[in-house]
Amino acid sequence: MLPAMMLSSDIRAAFIDYFKTQAHTEIPSAPLVPKGDPTLLFTNAGMVQFKTTFLGEAPRDYSRAVSSQKCMRAGGKHNDLDQVGKTARHHTFFEMLGNFSFGNYFKKEAIAFAWELLTDQFHLSKDRLWVTVYQDDDEAEQLWKRFVAPNRILRLGDADNFWQMGETGPCGPCSEILIDQGEAMHPDCPGIGVCSCDRYLEIWNLVFMQYNKTATGITSLPNPSIDTGMGLERITAICQGVNSNYQTDLFTPIFDAIAHKAYQSKTDIVSSMPARVIADHLRAMTFLMSDGVVPSNEGRGYVLRRIIRRAARFGRKLSLAPPFLHELTDSVIDPMRLVYPELAAHRKNIQKTIQMEEERFEETLNRGGAFLDEVIETIQKKGEKEIAGEAAFKLYDTYGYPVDLITEVAEEAGLTVDEHGFQTAMEAQRERARCASLGGAADRGEKINDTDHLLSIALQKTPIAKTTFTGYQHLEEDVTILSILSGGKPIDAAAAGDVVEIIFDRSPFYGESGGQVGDTGTLISQGAGVEIENTKKTNAGVHLHSGKVISGTIHIGTRYQAVVNSDARKSAARNHTATHLLHAALREIIGDHVKQAGSLVAPERLRFDFHHFAPLTQKEMDRVESCVNAQVLEAVAVETKEMAVAEALSCGATALFGEKYGDVVRVVSVSDFSHELCGGTHCRNTGEIGLFKIIREGSVASGIRRIEAVTGTVAYQVVKNQEQTVKQISELLKINSEDVFEKVMKLTKEIKEKDREIQKIKMGQIASSDDPMQAIRKIGNLSLLVRKMPNTSIKEMRVHADYLRDRLKSGIVILGGLDEAGEKATLIVMVTPEWTNPFSAAKIASEMAIFIGGSGGGNPEMAQAGGKQVDQLGAALEKSVEIVEAMGKQS
Ligand code: SER
Repeated sequence: MLPAMMLSSDIRAAFIDYFKTQAHTEIPSAPLVPKGDPTLLFTNAGMVQFKTTFLGEAPRDYSRAVSSQKCMRAGGKHNDLDQVGKTARHHTFFEMLGNFSFGNYFKKEAIAFAWELLTDQFHLSKDRLWVTVYQDDDEAEQLWKRFVAPNRILRLGDADNFWQMGETGPCGPCSEILIDQGEAMHPDCPGIGVCSCDRYLEIWNLVFMQYNKTATGITSLPNPSIDTGMGLERITAICQGVNSNYQTDLFTPIFDAIAHKAYQSKTDIVSSMPARVIADHLRAMTFLMSDGVVPSNEGRGYVLRRIIRRAARFGRKLSLAPPFLHELTDSVIDPMRLVYPELAAHRKNIQKTIQMEEERFEETLNRGGAFLDEVIETIQKKGEKEIAGEAAFKLYDTYGYPVDLITEVAEEAGLTVDEHGFQTAMEAQRERARCASLGGAADRGEKINDTDHLLSIALQKTPIAKTTFTGYQHLEEDVTILSILSGGKPIDAAAAGDVVEIIFDRSPFYGESGGQVGDTGTLISQGAGVEIENTKKTNAGVHLHSGKVISGTIHIGTRYQAVVNSDARKSAARNHTATHLLHAALREIIGDHVKQAGSLVAPERLRFDFHHFAPLTQKEMDRVESCVNAQVLEAVAVETKEMAVAEALSCGATALFGEKYGDVVRVVSVSDFSHELCGGTHCRNTGEIGLFKIIREGSVASGIRRIEAVTGTVAYQVVKNQEQTVKQISELLKINSEDVFEKVMKLTKEIKEKDREIQKIKMGQIASSDDPMQAIRKIGNLSLLVRKMPNTSIKEMRVHADYLRDRLKSGIVILGGLDEAGEKATLIVMVTPEWTNPFSAAKIASEMAIFIGGSGGGNPEMAQAGGKQVDQLGAALEKSVEIVEAMGKQS
C-alpha cells in the first residue's frame, strides 16, 4: 500500500520494487562519467551502462534489469542546458527510472508493465493518459489498444518516436506515454507532436531496441530488447499534484536554502528563473564532482565549469553575495546521501572546488563587468540589437570572458553577437601574434624548428612511411637512412660538423611523446659517426633524429648501427614507471578526483600535473611518497599488454576523454595498483626504480597542482646531498649530526631575543631624540600625529606606530619612512577605533600612496602603503594633513 502523498523516495522505491516483483534484477546507478566509453560525454540515459549488453558483446547473468540512473544532459546529442530555468521540466541533472530486457521480453510486456505501474500503483487517471507510437509500428498500436482508447493513440515520425543514444549505438522505435495536465495549463495548445507546451507532458519513454547505428549504417541487434526511461522529477511532480518539478520534495531543501541566503520567501523564488537555474545547476555540479569531474577548459570539465559559472551569474540576479554556491551544496548532499553515498564521501572536495571556481569567476566578471555594462547600455541607447565583433573580442581577449559566456549574457539582454566580426578580430590578432613571433625568431637568428613542418617539406621529395619502433625490445638496431634534412631541406649526404635531422626505416630511439622525452645516442658505421641529441615523433609516426655528424660522411640509403644511450633510457624508464605509481598513489590517498593534467618524463626527473584544489600537506606528501616506495620495495613486475580498446577500458585502465585511441592499445600495469594506456618505455620491475623522492609540490594554474620527483641514482644523490649539508652544519657548530636540530632551534631563539633587544634600543634612541608628542596637530577635536622616521625596516615602523598610537590614546598616527637601502618608501596609518568613521586608515593610506607611486591596503584601523618614488615621501606626509581635513569635511 503506497502512502497518500508519495515522496520522491517512495516513488523511486515503488518503481524498483514493482519491477523486482516482475523478476528484474536491481542494478545500482552507474557513474555520470561513462566507464569505458570515451565517445560519450556523460551518462545520459539508464541504458548507457547496458550498451554493450544490448549489442551482445557483454552478456550478463540476468536478462531483466531495473535501475534509478543518475543522468546528465548538458552536452552531446541530448543537451537541455539552455532550456533549464525557462521551463518547469528540463534539467541538466536528473534521475531516470528504467526497466530493461536483454532479449527477454519485448513490446507486449513492456507496455503492460508500464500501464499497470502508472494506473494501479501510481493511481494516475486512465483518462488523462495519451500514447504515441512510431509511424509504422502497427504492433505497438494494437498492443496499446488493449488499454487506451484509439483516439488517444497517435503515430509520430523519427523526430518524436525513434530513439538513439548518440550518433552511434543501439536505437529503435519508441512509444511515449504522456499525461494531459488539463486545458488550464495551456488553453491554446494545438496538441501532441505539434506543441512544446506543458499541457501534454511526456512521462515515460519505452524504447523497442532493435538496431545498432554505426558510422557506416544500421544493423539489427542480436535480440530485440527493451529500454525504458521515466524522469523521476516529472513523475514526482505528477504524483504530488504540482505543476513544476521545482515544487517537488526533490527541490524543496534546495529552494529553502536559496531563499534563506537571498532573504526572500520560497514561494516567491520557486518560479523565478535565476533560482531555478541555481537549483538545477547545484544538483548537476555536486553530482558531477562526486563522480570525479573537476572544472577545466575542455570536455567534461568545461561543461562543469560552464554550469558553475552560469549558476554563479544567476546568483547575482538574486543579489546573493559571492561566493555562495558552496554553502548551498549541503542542501543537495544531505537529502540524497543515503541513495548516493558518493555525495557525502566527497563533500569537502566538492565544496572547496566550487568555492575556488566561483571566486576565480568573480574576478573575471569584475574585470570585464563595467566594460560589458557600458557596451550593452550604449547599444540599447542606440536602439541596436548586436554586440560588435570588436567589443566581443575585447571581452574575450582582454577580460578573459569565454565565448559562450559572452553569447549567454548578450542573449539575456536581448542582443546577439556579431560572430563574423568576432572571428575577423580574432584572425587579425592571430596574424599580429604570428608576425611578432616569426619576426622575433628571425631577428634572433634562431632556427624555427617545427617537426611536422620540416617533415612535410621532406615528404614532398620522398614519401616517408611511419617508422617501425623497435626500442621496446632492443637498444641497438641496424638501420637504413631514408632521409636527411638540413635546416628543413632534404639533402643526400652530410659531413662532419653538420647539424641534421635523420629518418631511418626502423628505430630503437623513443620519439618524444606522452610526456616522455626523446632518446639520445649514437649512429655509427665504419666510416662515420653521428651524436643523436634528441628524437621527436611526428603526428604521422615518423621518428626524427636530430644531431651532429661527428666524423666521416653519412649518406641516404646506407646502413648504420643505431645505439640508444642506455643509461639515459633506463633513467627515463624509472621515472616513467614512477609517474604511473605516483598517479595511482595520488588517487588512492588524495581521492578519485585526481586526474592527470600533464606530465614530463626525462632521465633526470619527472613532473606530474594533476587536478586538485589545494596544496598537498606535508603529511599527504609523505603518505604518497611512501605509497610509491612500498610498490618499489615489493619489486612487482611491470606488465605491458596490447589489447582491444574496449577490453582495456573495461579493466579500468585510465584513458583521457576526447583522446583518439587506435583499435588496439598498449596497457601498462603494475599488479592491481595501476593500469594506464601508455606507449612509453618502462622498467621491467618496480624494484629498478630504487628510490622515489618528491622534490617539490606547487601550483601550475588554478585547480592544478604539480609534483616534481626523482628516482634511482638522482634520488640517491638528493639524499646524499642532504646528508652532506647536515654534516657541514654539524662541523660548523662543532656538534654531532644528531644534535643539529636542537642546536639550530636554540640559536634561532637566541637570535630572535637579540633582535628584540636591538629593536628596543633603537626605539629608545628614536624616542629620546625628541618628544614626538610635541608634533601633534589638532583638527577640531582630532589629534593627528605625522612623523618621518629614519631609514628602517617596515617591522620597526609598525612597532613604532603602535607605540605612538598607544601614547596618543585617541586620534591618527601617520608614519613615513624609507627602507634601510633607501629604495622604497613606506607609509603606516593607524586610526583609533572611535575615529575610523570618517577617517578610515585604509582610505588615508591609499590616497597618500598616489604620491609615492604605489598602492595601499589595510583596514579602517591600520593600513600600509608602499611606493618607489622615495623623493616624494615628504610631499606625501605634508599632503596627509589636507587629506585628513578633507575627509573630516566630507563627513
Ligand atoms: N533511452 C530512452 C530515453 O532516454 C529510454 O530510457 O529516453
